[in-house]
Amino acid sequence: MFDKNKVLPIACDHGGYDLKEHVKIELLKENYLVEDMGTFSPESVDYPDYIHPLAEAVNNGKFCMGIIICGSGNGVSMTANKYPEVRAALCWTAEIAKMARLHNDANILALPGRYIDFEEALRAVNIFLTTDFEKGRHTRRVNKISVSKNNR
Ligand code: RB5
Repeated sequence: MFDKNKVLPIACDHGGYDLKEHVKIELLKENYLVEDMGTFSPESVDYPDYIHPLAEAVNNGKFCMGIIICGSGNGVSMTANKYPEVRAALCWTAEIAKMARLHNDANILALPGRYIDFEEALRAVNIFLTTDFEKGRHTRRVNKISVSKNNR
């Protein structure tokens, strides 16, 4: 469960801009403390420029979770997953977002802005922020993900 006293960062490129604005407004209505890390207009940009700062801040513990959005969701999740402490999950349904928390302890939700409707995206955000990691056997599996932890 995400602690509403903590700051939740959100970032996107132009492909995710409309959904980012919508998600941000709804989160603010729900009293989340949102840090908008851009982009701030629908003009074309390069998604790594906006995702690296967010992912780096999750990686170093400044933020415990984040939301990232591009057109497909792939570019942003590929970028974020370069950081060893980041587990970014590309989720196109709320059910997948729930599983990403329960089984993968995902700490970043990646959404495909051009391939998910606003309602499903909001359901995904809400369930992602309110579902706890199941632990147990999933802890062992999550600990085997990182190459930098000498799993390989
Ligand atoms: C931008 O056109 C698009 O390539 C980008 O938003 C994203 O889908 C990349 O993975």
